[in-house]
Amino acid sequence: MKRVMRGAVLASVAAAAVTGCVTDKGACETMSKGCEPSVVVKPFGKTKDGQLVQQYTLTGAGGVVMDVIDYGGKVVRLFTPDRTGAKTDITLGFNEVAGYETHDPYFGSLIGRYGNRIAKGTFTLDGVTYRLPINNEPGGLPCSLHGGKRGFDAYVWHSEPLSEGRSVGVKFWMTSPDGDQGYPGKLDVTVCYWLTPENVWRIEYEAVTDKATPINLTQHLYFNFKGEAEGTILDHELTLFADRMTPVDKGLIPTGEVVPVKGTPFDFTTPWPIGARIQADNEQLRFGGGYDHNWVLNNQSGKLAPAAALYEKSTGRFMEVWTTEPAIQFYCGNFLTDQVPSKKPGKKLCYRGGLALETQHSPDSPNQPAFPSTILRPGAVYKSATEYRFGVK
Ligand code: GAL
Repeated sequence: MKRVMRGAVLASVAAAAVTGCVTDKGACETMSKGCEPSVVVKPFGKTKDGQLVQQYTLTGAGGVVMDVIDYGGKVVRLFTPDRTGAKTDITLGFNEVAGYETHDPYFGSLIGRYGNRIAKGTFTLDGVTYRLPINNEPGGLPCSLHGGKRGFDAYVWHSEPLSEGRSVGVKFWMTSPDGDQGYPGKLDVTVCYWLTPENVWRIEYEAVTDKATPINLTQHLYFNFKGEAEGTILDHELTLFADRMTPVDKGLIPTGEVVPVKGTPFDFTTPWPIGARIQADNEQLRFGGGYDHNWVLNNQSGKLAPAAALYEKSTGRFMEVWTTEPAIQFYCGNFLTDQVPSKKPGKKLCYRGGLALETQHSPDSPNQPAFPSTILRPGAVYKSATEYRFGVK
Protein backbone atom coordinates (compact mmCIF):
# COMPACT_ATOMS: atom_id res chain seq x y z
CA MET A 1 0.00 0.00 0.00
CA LYS A 2 1.28 3.45 -0.89
CA ARG A 3 2.12 5.83 1.92
CA VAL A 4 0.68 9.34 1.89
CA MET A 5 2.85 12.38 2.49
CA ARG A 6 2.80 13.60 6.05
CA GLY A 7 1.05 16.94 5.33
CA ALA A 8 -1.81 15.28 3.45
CA VAL A 9 -2.24 12.68 6.15
CA LEU A 10 -2.45 15.21 8.93
CA ALA A 11 -5.12 17.13 6.97
CA SER A 12 -7.22 14.01 6.53
CA VAL A 13 -6.76 13.15 10.19
CA ALA A 14 -7.86 16.62 11.26
CA ALA A 15 -10.96 16.27 9.07
CA ALA A 16 -11.69 12.82 10.47
CA ALA A 17 -11.44 14.02 14.05
CA VAL A 18 -14.49 16.25 13.60
CA THR A 19 -16.78 13.56 12.16
CA GLY A 20 -17.87 12.56 15.66
CA CYS A 21 -17.41 8.89 14.88
CA VAL A 22 -14.79 8.37 17.54
CA THR A 23 -15.55 8.94 21.21
CA ASP A 24 -13.06 9.42 24.02
CA LYS A 25 -13.12 5.67 24.61
CA GLY A 26 -12.00 5.05 21.05
CA ALA A 27 -15.38 3.50 20.27
CA CYS A 28 -17.23 3.83 17.00
CA GLU A 29 -20.84 4.74 17.69
CA THR A 30 -22.16 3.68 14.32
CA MET A 31 -20.52 0.28 14.36
CA SER A 32 -23.21 -1.75 12.66
CA LYS A 33 -23.52 0.76 9.80
CA GLY A 34 -19.79 1.22 9.45
CA CYS A 35 -17.74 4.30 10.21
CA GLU A 36 -15.98 7.17 8.61
CA PRO A 37 -12.39 5.97 8.76
CA SER A 38 -10.23 8.14 10.99
CA VAL A 39 -7.01 8.42 12.95
CA VAL A 40 -7.07 10.40 16.19
CA VAL A 41 -3.81 11.10 18.01
CA LYS A 42 -3.57 11.91 21.72
CA PRO A 43 -1.07 11.49 24.57
CA PHE A 44 -1.12 8.07 26.27
CA GLY A 45 1.42 8.74 29.04
CA LYS A 46 5.13 8.86 29.73
CA THR A 47 7.85 6.25 30.08
CA LYS A 48 9.72 6.08 33.37
CA ASP A 49 12.55 8.07 31.78
CA GLY A 50 10.10 10.83 30.84
CA GLN A 51 9.47 10.16 27.13
CA LEU A 52 6.04 11.12 25.86
CA VAL A 53 4.02 8.19 24.48
CA GLN A 54 1.35 8.94 21.84
CA GLN A 55 -1.76 6.92 21.17
CA TYR A 56 -3.30 6.54 17.72
CA THR A 57 -6.93 5.50 17.57
CA LEU A 58 -7.57 3.88 14.19
CA THR A 59 -11.24 3.60 13.29
CA GLY A 60 -11.73 1.40 10.26
CA ALA A 61 -14.56 1.96 7.78
CA GLY A 62 -15.74 -1.58 8.58
CA GLY A 63 -16.10 -0.74 12.28
CA VAL A 64 -13.01 -2.30 13.87
CA VAL A 65 -11.31 0.19 16.21
CA MET A 66 -7.78 -0.12 17.56
CA ASP A 67 -5.74 1.95 20.00
CA VAL A 68 -2.06 1.75 19.18
CA ILE A 69 0.86 3.46 20.94
CA ASP A 70 4.27 4.48 19.64
CA TYR A 71 5.92 2.73 22.62
CA GLY A 72 6.78 -0.65 21.09
CA GLY A 73 4.07 -0.21 18.42
CA LYS A 74 1.77 -1.84 20.96
CA VAL A 75 -1.89 -2.47 20.28
CA VAL A 76 -3.46 -1.49 23.60
CA ARG A 77 -7.10 -2.12 22.72
CA LEU A 78 -8.82 -3.82 19.79
CA PHE A 79 -12.59 -3.61 19.44
CA THR A 80 -14.30 -5.98 17.01
CA PRO A 81 -18.00 -6.81 16.62
CA ASP A 82 -19.50 -10.11 17.68
CA ARG A 83 -22.24 -11.74 15.62
CA THR A 84 -24.87 -9.34 17.06
CA GLY A 85 -22.72 -6.31 16.18
CA ALA A 86 -21.75 -5.65 19.83
CA LYS A 87 -18.17 -4.59 20.26
CA THR A 88 -15.66 -5.88 22.78
CA ASP A 89 -11.99 -5.25 23.41
CA ILE A 90 -10.47 -8.62 22.46
CA THR A 91 -6.83 -8.04 23.29
CA LEU A 92 -4.68 -8.06 26.43
CA GLY A 93 -2.81 -4.88 27.34
CA PHE A 94 -2.39 -2.18 29.97
CA ASN A 95 -4.01 1.22 30.45
CA GLU A 96 -0.69 2.80 31.47
CA VAL A 97 2.89 2.77 30.15
CA ALA A 98 4.03 1.58 33.60
CA GLY A 99 2.14 -1.70 33.09
CA TYR A 100 4.22 -2.41 30.00
CA GLU A 101 7.43 -1.42 31.79
CA THR A 102 6.71 -3.66 34.79
CA HIS A 103 5.38 -6.84 33.19
CA ASP A 104 6.92 -8.77 30.32
CA PRO A 105 4.28 -10.77 28.42
CA TYR A 106 4.99 -8.55 25.35
CA PHE A 107 1.28 -7.64 25.14
CA GLY A 108 0.44 -6.30 21.66
CA SER A 109 4.08 -5.48 20.86
CA LEU A 110 6.29 -5.29 17.86
CA ILE A 111 9.13 -7.74 18.46
CA GLY A 112 12.70 -7.39 17.19
CA ARG A 113 15.42 -7.72 16.23
CA TYR A 114 14.74 -11.43 16.58
CA GLY A 115 11.30 -12.69 17.53
CA ASN A 116 11.48 -15.93 19.54
CA ARG A 117 14.55 -17.65 21.02
CA ILE A 118 18.24 -17.90 20.12
CA ALA A 119 19.92 -20.77 21.97
CA LYS A 120 22.45 -19.77 24.64
CA GLY A 121 22.22 -16.19 23.30
CA THR A 122 24.89 -16.77 20.68
CA PHE A 123 25.34 -17.37 16.95
CA THR A 124 28.19 -17.33 14.45
CA LEU A 125 27.84 -15.40 11.20
CA ASP A 126 30.52 -15.15 8.49
CA GLY A 127 33.04 -16.60 10.96
CA VAL A 128 32.36 -14.11 13.77
CA THR A 129 30.67 -15.23 16.99
CA TYR A 130 28.18 -12.79 18.51
CA ARG A 131 26.86 -12.79 22.08
CA LEU A 132 23.37 -11.59 22.93
CA PRO A 133 21.91 -10.80 26.36
CA ILE A 134 20.35 -13.78 28.11
CA ASN A 135 16.86 -12.83 29.28
CA ASN A 136 15.03 -16.15 29.46
CA GLU A 137 15.72 -19.61 30.84
CA PRO A 138 12.90 -22.10 30.26
CA GLY A 139 13.73 -25.50 31.72
CA GLY A 140 16.90 -23.95 33.17
CA LEU A 141 18.42 -23.51 29.69
CA PRO A 142 19.49 -19.90 28.95
CA CYS A 143 18.54 -18.15 25.72
CA SER A 144 17.98 -14.72 24.25
CA LEU A 145 14.24 -14.06 23.77
CA HIS A 146 12.45 -11.48 21.60
CA GLY A 147 15.48 -9.30 20.88
CA GLY A 148 17.18 -9.41 24.28
CA LYS A 149 16.99 -7.31 27.45
CA ARG A 150 15.70 -4.27 25.59
CA GLY A 151 13.97 -5.32 22.40
CA PHE A 152 12.03 -3.17 19.95
CA ASP A 153 8.98 -3.56 22.20
CA ALA A 154 10.62 -1.23 24.76
CA TYR A 155 11.41 1.77 22.53
CA VAL A 156 9.35 4.82 21.67
CA TRP A 157 9.31 4.67 17.86
CA HIS A 158 8.98 7.60 15.46
CA SER A 159 5.44 7.60 14.16
CA GLU A 160 2.96 9.31 11.91
CA PRO A 161 -0.62 8.67 10.80
CA LEU A 162 -1.38 7.13 7.41
CA SER A 163 -4.42 7.23 5.19
CA GLU A 164 -5.15 6.02 1.70
CA GLY A 165 -8.59 5.70 0.19
CA ARG A 166 -10.75 4.32 3.00
CA SER A 167 -7.85 2.64 4.81
CA VAL A 168 -6.21 4.28 7.80
CA GLY A 169 -3.04 3.45 9.66
CA VAL A 170 0.10 4.43 11.43
CA LYS A 171 3.71 4.23 10.36
CA PHE A 172 6.46 3.48 12.88
CA TRP A 173 10.17 3.68 12.27
CA MET A 174 13.38 3.45 14.27
CA THR A 175 17.11 2.87 13.87
CA SER A 176 18.76 0.18 15.93
CA PRO A 177 22.49 1.04 16.16
CA ASP A 178 25.33 -1.33 15.24
CA GLY A 179 25.88 -3.64 18.26
CA ASP A 180 22.41 -3.03 19.74
CA GLN A 181 21.75 -5.99 22.11
CA GLY A 182 24.84 -7.64 20.63
CA TYR A 183 23.52 -7.76 17.05
CA PRO A 184 25.73 -6.58 14.18
CA GLY A 185 24.82 -3.74 11.82
CA LYS A 186 22.87 -0.52 11.96
CA LEU A 187 19.33 -1.60 11.22
CA ASP A 188 16.71 0.83 9.90
CA VAL A 189 13.22 -0.57 10.48
CA THR A 190 9.82 0.63 9.29
CA VAL A 191 6.52 -0.96 10.25
CA CYS A 192 3.12 0.15 8.94
CA TYR A 193 -0.21 -0.85 10.45
CA TRP A 194 -3.23 -0.50 8.15
CA LEU A 195 -6.88 -0.97 9.01
CA THR A 196 -8.93 -1.55 5.86
CA PRO A 197 -12.69 -1.14 5.25
CA GLU A 198 -12.86 -4.97 5.14
CA ASN A 199 -11.72 -5.14 8.80
CA VAL A 200 -8.26 -6.35 7.91
CA TRP A 201 -5.37 -5.28 10.10
CA ARG A 202 -2.38 -5.42 7.76
CA ILE A 203 1.18 -5.16 9.07
CA GLU A 204 4.01 -4.35 6.66
CA TYR A 205 7.59 -4.68 7.87
CA GLU A 206 10.68 -3.37 6.09
CA ALA A 207 14.32 -3.15 7.15
CA VAL A 208 17.80 -2.51 5.78
CA THR A 209 21.18 -3.05 7.38
CA ASP A 210 24.78 -1.99 6.81
CA LYS A 211 26.23 -5.35 8.04
CA ALA A 212 24.92 -8.89 7.73
CA THR A 213 22.61 -9.60 10.66
CA PRO A 214 19.78 -11.92 11.70
CA ILE A 215 16.29 -10.41 11.68
CA ASN A 216 12.91 -11.91 12.56
CA LEU A 217 10.25 -9.27 13.17
CA THR A 218 6.81 -10.16 14.48
CA GLN A 219 3.78 -8.88 16.37
CA HIS A 220 2.84 -10.33 19.74
CA LEU A 221 -0.87 -9.48 20.09
CA TYR A 222 -2.82 -11.69 22.49
CA PHE A 223 -6.39 -12.55 21.54
CA ASN A 224 -9.35 -13.56 23.64
CA PHE A 225 -12.47 -13.45 21.47
CA LYS A 226 -14.78 -13.50 24.51
CA GLY A 227 -13.10 -10.28 25.64
CA GLU A 228 -10.11 -9.24 27.71
CA ALA A 229 -10.24 -10.83 31.19
CA GLU A 230 -13.21 -13.03 30.22
CA GLY A 231 -11.66 -16.39 31.04
CA THR A 232 -9.39 -18.74 29.15
CA ILE A 233 -8.96 -19.29 25.42
CA LEU A 234 -9.18 -23.09 25.73
CA ASP A 235 -12.59 -23.11 24.01
CA HIS A 236 -11.35 -21.17 20.95
CA GLU A 237 -11.13 -23.32 17.83
CA LEU A 238 -7.85 -23.07 16.00
CA THR A 239 -6.80 -24.07 12.50
CA LEU A 240 -3.16 -23.98 11.42
CA PHE A 241 -2.28 -24.31 7.74
CA ALA A 242 0.73 -26.38 8.66
CA ASP A 243 1.41 -30.10 8.21
CA ARG A 244 4.70 -29.92 10.13
CA MET A 245 6.20 -28.39 13.26
CA THR A 246 9.61 -28.00 14.86
CA PRO A 247 9.91 -30.01 18.11
CA VAL A 248 11.85 -28.34 20.92
CA ASP A 249 14.06 -29.33 23.85
CA LYS A 250 13.12 -28.39 27.41
CA GLY A 251 14.62 -24.91 26.79
CA LEU A 252 12.04 -24.42 23.98
CA ILE A 253 14.83 -24.44 21.40
CA PRO A 254 14.16 -26.44 18.21
CA THR A 255 16.02 -29.73 18.02
CA GLY A 256 16.49 -29.11 14.28
CA GLU A 257 13.95 -31.74 13.24
CA VAL A 258 10.83 -30.86 11.27
CA VAL A 259 8.16 -33.47 11.96
CA PRO A 260 4.65 -34.19 10.63
CA VAL A 261 1.83 -33.22 12.99
CA LYS A 262 -0.53 -35.93 11.74
CA GLY A 263 -1.81 -38.12 14.57
CA THR A 264 -0.51 -35.79 17.31
CA PRO A 265 -2.09 -33.06 19.51
CA PHE A 266 -0.24 -30.62 17.24
CA ASP A 267 -2.44 -31.42 14.26
CA PHE A 268 -4.59 -28.31 13.75
CA THR A 269 -4.98 -28.86 10.00
CA THR A 270 -8.71 -29.09 10.80
CA PRO A 271 -10.25 -26.86 13.51
CA TRP A 272 -9.72 -28.07 17.09
CA PRO A 273 -10.64 -26.48 20.42
CA ILE A 274 -7.32 -25.47 21.96
CA GLY A 275 -8.14 -27.25 25.22
CA ALA A 276 -9.21 -30.54 23.65
CA ARG A 277 -5.81 -32.23 23.64
CA ILE A 278 -3.68 -29.89 25.74
CA GLN A 279 -3.54 -32.40 28.65
CA ALA A 280 -2.40 -35.26 26.42
CA ASP A 281 0.53 -37.33 27.60
CA ASN A 282 3.03 -35.76 25.23
CA GLU A 283 6.63 -34.70 25.88
CA GLN A 284 6.36 -31.61 23.66
CA LEU A 285 3.29 -30.38 25.57
CA ARG A 286 5.18 -30.97 28.83
CA PHE A 287 8.19 -28.95 27.60
CA GLY A 288 5.93 -26.09 26.47
CA GLY A 289 3.63 -26.24 29.50
CA GLY A 290 0.96 -26.48 26.79
CA TYR A 291 1.19 -25.12 23.25
CA ASP A 292 4.22 -22.86 22.79
CA HIS A 293 5.61 -24.17 19.54
CA ASN A 294 6.49 -23.26 16.00
CA TRP A 295 4.62 -24.68 13.04
CA VAL A 296 6.14 -24.74 9.54
CA LEU A 297 3.49 -23.32 7.25
CA ASN A 298 2.49 -25.19 4.12
CA ASN A 299 3.04 -21.99 2.17
CA GLN A 300 6.76 -21.43 1.68
CA SER A 301 6.40 -19.16 -1.38
CA GLY A 302 7.04 -15.86 0.40
CA LYS A 303 3.66 -14.69 -0.95
CA LEU A 304 0.70 -13.86 1.28
CA ALA A 305 -1.24 -17.05 2.12
CA PRO A 306 -3.41 -18.40 4.96
CA ALA A 307 -1.52 -19.36 8.11
CA ALA A 308 -4.21 -19.72 10.78
CA ALA A 309 -7.89 -19.31 11.59
CA LEU A 310 -9.48 -18.77 14.99
CA TYR A 311 -13.16 -19.05 15.98
CA GLU A 312 -15.05 -18.61 19.23
CA LYS A 313 -18.56 -19.96 19.04
CA SER A 314 -20.37 -18.04 21.82
CA THR A 315 -19.55 -14.66 20.23
CA GLY A 316 -19.17 -15.84 16.62
CA ARG A 317 -15.88 -13.99 16.32
CA PHE A 318 -13.71 -15.40 13.56
CA MET A 319 -10.29 -14.39 12.31
CA GLU A 320 -7.95 -15.49 9.57
CA VAL A 321 -4.21 -14.88 9.72
CA TRP A 322 -2.44 -14.50 6.39
CA THR A 323 1.29 -14.05 6.05
CA THR A 324 4.30 -14.03 3.75
CA GLU A 325 6.35 -15.69 6.55
CA PRO A 326 7.25 -19.41 6.48
CA ALA A 327 6.30 -20.24 10.10
CA ILE A 328 4.03 -19.32 13.00
CA GLN A 329 4.46 -19.52 16.77
CA PHE A 330 1.26 -20.49 18.56
CA TYR A 331 1.54 -19.60 22.25
CA CYS A 332 -1.51 -20.20 24.43
CA GLY A 333 -0.61 -18.03 27.42
CA ASN A 334 1.01 -20.71 29.59
CA PHE A 335 3.05 -18.09 31.46
CA LEU A 336 0.08 -15.80 32.17
CA THR A 337 -1.26 -15.56 35.72
CA ASP A 338 -3.74 -13.44 37.64
CA GLN A 339 -0.75 -11.43 38.88
CA VAL A 340 -0.76 -9.59 35.55
CA PRO A 341 -3.37 -6.82 35.94
CA SER A 342 -6.41 -6.51 33.68
CA LYS A 343 -7.31 -3.26 31.89
CA LYS A 344 -10.76 -3.51 33.47
CA PRO A 345 -11.15 -2.40 37.09
CA GLY A 346 -12.10 -5.31 39.34
CA LYS A 347 -11.30 -7.95 36.70
CA LYS A 348 -8.38 -10.38 36.61
CA LEU A 349 -6.43 -12.01 33.85
CA CYS A 350 -5.76 -15.72 34.19
CA TYR A 351 -3.56 -18.60 33.15
CA ARG A 352 -4.20 -19.13 29.42
CA GLY A 353 -6.32 -15.97 29.32
CA GLY A 354 -5.01 -15.05 25.85
CA LEU A 355 -3.22 -16.58 22.90
CA ALA A 356 -0.69 -15.26 20.40
CA LEU A 357 -0.27 -16.23 16.75
CA GLU A 358 3.13 -14.82 15.85
CA THR A 359 4.08 -15.05 12.18
CA GLN A 360 7.84 -15.41 11.77
CA HIS A 361 10.79 -17.58 10.79
CA SER A 362 11.45 -20.50 13.12
CA PRO A 363 13.24 -19.99 16.45
CA ASP A 364 17.02 -20.22 16.61
CA SER A 365 17.32 -20.09 12.80
CA PRO A 366 20.80 -18.44 13.00
CA ASN A 367 22.01 -21.73 14.57
CA GLN A 368 19.90 -24.04 12.39
CA PRO A 369 21.42 -24.33 8.90
CA ALA A 370 18.49 -26.43 7.61
CA PHE A 371 15.88 -23.74 8.46
CA PRO A 372 15.10 -20.88 6.03
CA SER A 373 17.69 -18.15 6.53
CA THR A 374 17.00 -15.08 8.67
CA ILE A 375 20.17 -13.28 7.59
CA LEU A 376 19.72 -9.84 6.04
CA ARG A 377 22.69 -8.53 4.09
CA PRO A 378 23.62 -4.97 3.10
CA GLY A 379 21.92 -3.98 -0.15
CA ALA A 380 18.96 -6.32 0.40
CA VAL A 381 15.61 -5.19 1.80
CA TYR A 382 13.83 -7.25 4.46
CA LYS A 383 10.11 -7.29 3.65
CA SER A 384 7.35 -9.14 5.40
CA ALA A 385 3.58 -8.76 5.65
CA THR A 386 0.90 -10.27 7.86
CA GLU A 387 -2.84 -9.72 7.90
CA TYR A 388 -5.29 -10.39 10.71
CA ARG A 389 -8.70 -10.53 9.02
CA PHE A 390 -11.59 -10.06 11.45
CA GLY A 391 -15.13 -11.29 10.92
CA VAL A 392 -17.98 -13.33 12.39
CA LYS A 393 -19.55 -16.68 11.63
C1 GAL B 1 6.09 -16.14 23.33
C2 GAL B 1 6.96 -17.32 23.63
C3 GAL B 1 6.63 -17.79 25.05
C4 GAL B 1 6.75 -16.65 26.04
C5 GAL B 1 5.96 -15.46 25.55
C6 GAL B 1 6.13 -14.22 26.41
O1 GAL B 1 6.38 -15.66 22.05
O2 GAL B 1 6.74 -18.34 22.69
O3 GAL B 1 7.48 -18.85 25.40
O4 GAL B 1 8.09 -16.31 26.21
O5 GAL B 1 6.33 -15.11 24.25
O6 GAL B 1 5.70 -14.44 27.71
